[in-house]
Amino acid sequence: MCGIVGYIGNKKAVPVLINGLRSLEYRGYDSAGIAVLEDNEIIAIKDKGRVANLENIEDIKNLNSSIGIAHTRWATHGKPSKENSHPHLDNSKQFAVVHNGIIENYHELREFLSQKGYTFLSQTDTEVIPNLIHYYYTNGIRDTDQFLRAVKSAVDDLKGSYAIEVMSKNYPDRIIVVRKDSPLVIGKGNDENFVASDIPAILCHTKDFYLLEDNEYAVVYANDIHFFDNSLEEHSKSIKSIEWDATAAEKNGYEDYMLKEIYEQPNAIRETIGSRFKLGEKCNFDDIDISKEYLSQVNKIWIVACGTAMHAGLVGKNAIEKLCKISTEVDIASEFRYRDPIINDKTLCIFISQSGETADTIAALKLAKSKNAKTIAVTNVIGSSITREADYTIYTHAGPEIAVASTKAYTSQVVLMVILAMYFAEILGICDENCVEQLKSDILDLPNKIETVLESADDIKKFAEKVYTEHDMYFLGRGNDYCVALEGSLKLKEISYIHSESYASGELKHGPIALIENGVTVISILTNPDLVEKSISNIQEVVSRGAKTLVITNQKLSNVNFDFIMNIPDTNSLISPILSVIPLQLFSYYIAKNKKLDVDKPRNLAKSVTVE
Ligand code: AGP
Repeated sequence: MCGIVGYIGNKKAVPVLINGLRSLEYRGYDSAGIAVLEDNEIIAIKDKGRVANLENIEDIKNLNSSIGIAHTRWATHGKPSKENSHPHLDNSKQFAVVHNGIIENYHELREFLSQKGYTFLSQTDTEVIPNLIHYYYTNGIRDTDQFLRAVKSAVDDLKGSYAIEVMSKNYPDRIIVVRKDSPLVIGKGNDENFVASDIPAILCHTKDFYLLEDNEYAVVYANDIHFFDNSLEEHSKSIKSIEWDATAAEKNGYEDYMLKEIYEQPNAIRETIGSRFKLGEKCNFDDIDISKEYLSQVNKIWIVACGTAMHAGLVGKNAIEKLCKISTEVDIASEFRYRDPIINDKTLCIFISQSGETADTIAALKLAKSKNAKTIAVTNVIGSSITREADYTIYTHAGPEIAVASTKAYTSQVVLMVILAMYFAEILGICDENCVEQLKSDILDLPNKIETVLESADDIKKFAEKVYTEHDMYFLGRGNDYCVALEGSLKLKEISYIHSESYASGELKHGPIALIENGVTVISILTNPDLVEKSISNIQEVVSRGAKTLVITNQKLSNVNFDFIMNIPDTNSLISPILSVIPLQLFSYYIAKNKKLDVDKPRNLAKSVTVE
């Protein structure tokens, strides 16, 4: 999705802006552009294609300005083209704007402006914004606040979601920013300040951030930042220090972010566990305040998320139902928000989102709140939009995840959901303490066991080399293994573009087995000792129809004729997905590499889906 960067300070703006845009490439985009103030004129350089193309434009190298705004665009209104790329300027070229989000009423605003004589060069919704600013600027009272007031009047006319950055040739000492339902942060430096839609874009310059709230304005100067509420009343704002190391958002010698993030999982899990529990002590979540009285009357838990985060929710459901005996349902956020789900003040809703910016998940959360449910957000990104909406936020602390395909965020979400389930069970006082103690010990062993799984990466690589030219694959499992099958199948589709399906093994006979023919690849996950015999029978059914089989298991299998068995360490069934998903992450990765695909930036996908 779109990305924003801004700079004002004592350095040349262009390298800072380009660097920032490069850090945002992972979000997915199809065009890029910058605008700077040079000799009192706005110079905008933009085009469809990669950020690297911008850098090679000769004119850009001669720009010395120390104020600028920049953008990567993921097309929504109008195809990727130079005209549709941001920044957009008003007709008089006094104002330049970059915008993330969608302006829903842009047709009527365009109509209004056209009647006033404005013309448009692009098909975008964004181009109305600089022209509206110009309209209010020229029709407003002339005083020192004229620029800010014009931006505010324009923003008042907008319906939809937006993070907006504005620069004016009449005010070369400032950038104005505002947001609603789309993220925007301001990084504080020494004699310089930064703006970004995403912390990693400017993490190499500062760790001190202001997280802009919805409908909050900031006027950013090189040495100062002023914050205003929606009535343009000025207020002070506290700064947040982000613990992420700048190098955490770099590749550190790995060929791709995805591979790096797969290998970061032992540490990510250690960070997720953090001080949430120790052996012999109860789980503790300083970040939430849930009482026994409240939890005892909860009659339903909803876990709502999208994509991989939803798959983590499925594992969370199994843990909550097993340990807490509370009926728990998992739903896809885009379905949940439109199907009038049964929610009341006895419903607890948990929303999982790595980015904390997924539009559907945030909308689902708002819906749950409007129906008086208590809401918990599980996210990886500090200060992300979801954290402002939820009653409580729990952070996964997995560190920045840059690759579009989620890996370490998934495993840390799963760990966190299981710890949350133990925490609820301890509050309710209904759990078998020995069982929970054993589970805690198993969770603490996970980082070392993940390392063991990673040591077998070469075996998975070899299997991937054998099957990477195939067109269809199937993933099977029961219980938590089925949750992992869903995730393995999604990962494969996302980065290797191979069609794949995942099925609960028991469903095979109810239709999908008709698709199994000689040479088809079937990947089975088999970790639950209670279901091992049944699962083996299901795999035998596909073997006897000619399937090539990869089996990921922590069981000792004898007398089986599977093509490839990947052994992983044994652990509690509630957390087995954390180990069994890793060979599948590697499998997708190596298939994509064999197909020479861009693993980190798969086609058509964006890291955070901030529009519906
Ligand atoms: C995961 O590999 C995908 N990129 C995608 O399914 C993702 O999990 C989904 O879009 C949800 O994102 P979120 O966790 O940031 O809300």
